[in-house]
Amino acid sequence: MESHNDSLWEWSVFWHSNQLHACMPVNEESDSLAPIWHNFFENVPAGSSILDLGTGNGSLAALAVEVSHIKAPHFSIHGVDLADIKPAKYVAYAERLLSEVTFHPRTPMEKLPFQADTFDAVCSQFAIEYSTINKSLAEACRVLKPGGQLRFLLHAQDGILRERCHQQYEQAQTILASELFTATSKLLIALSDAETLNTPQTIKTAENLILPVKAVFDELELLFSTVKERSLIDNLFAAVRNLLGLRKSYEPQVLTKMNEDIKLLLLAQSKRLQAMQKAALDETKVNEMAEQLRQLKIDNVSLELATTSADNHCMGYWLYGEKRKTMCKEIL
Ligand SMILES: C[S@@+](CC[C@H](N)C(=O)[O-])C[C@H]1O[C@@H](n2cnc3c(N)ncnc32)[C@H](O)[C@@H]1O
Repeated sequence: MESHNDSLWEWSVFWHSNQLHACMPVNEESDSLAPIWHNFFENVPAGSSILDLGTGNGSLAALAVEVSHIKAPHFSIHGVDLADIKPAKYVAYAERLLSEVTFHPRTPMEKLPFQADTFDAVCSQFAIEYSTINKSLAEACRVLKPGGQLRFLLHAQDGILRERCHQQYEQAQTILASELFTATSKLLIALSDAETLNTPQTIKTAENLILPVKAVFDELELLFSTVKERSLIDNLFAAVRNLLGLRKSYEPQVLTKMNEDIKLLLLAQSKRLQAMQKAALDETKVNEMAEQLRQLKIDNVSLELATTSADNHCMGYWLYGEKRKTMCKEIL
């Protein structure tokens, strides 16, 4: 597992898995966004260069690739992320699409390694708000060609994604504060001793340690009894229970390490959920971003709510603009 002290360790851990998306586990929600992105990319001329800021495992870049296939010549698509991303390696099911994107890992969007006026379109999905926004906006505008387009999807303070992240963050904190991982670790070692040594004493010790683990599960189940969206809880409980079943196949040290890794993954998840809540923007902040774009010579700036298609719940903000074409007009 990556070093805890790495920049954006929590994201590197997340992207080193077979996941394309970070913030859209529910299909209906991502379905309402994809057509808007498709439309944006369709309006970008064939042969254009496109940059995706905070690309993660490339979910947005992959949408650009889909549109690129109907353009001749195709787009040249780049994705930057500060985390240690390697999408083509980890996301097996999208390998073909992602192999058409040039990814730039460990690259801050506040300091892009591209010359001015390089890209015809710069986009970002739930990412620019995690960075130092005024610097990233200035960089996005710098690398955008005159006449090029910007489109950003931003987390909203009162959106449903933030609400879900808040609930899951609280669940993760409750589990991390419990004795679950300590009790499980002790039980794993004791069970292994009991099976290897098979003495009355080791068997008794193992039996005595089953109860505390059961008690922690019961206590957590009680705390979560009213929770409706249980994906974090159920996945975590299944992973820990699974460890107890694996003890005949692995050495105790390996199982103890797996138990620690599950705890680290939960810690990483909790850090990501906290970062997301912090990144979510209120109306004042998104209006400030729109104003900064205008000052950076971006025209036709528009700010709209992004909503779910079924029930119109707020999913975030769309921020759009076009870089002014020529200097001549200004001189005249
Ligand atoms: C919520 S994820 C979104 C990922 C992707 N755009 C998507 O829609 O699946 C936010 C991403 O922004 C990246 N990020 C955060 N701060 C950054 C920075 N300063 N520069 C570049 N990337 C950054 C994180 O590593 C993470 O991958």
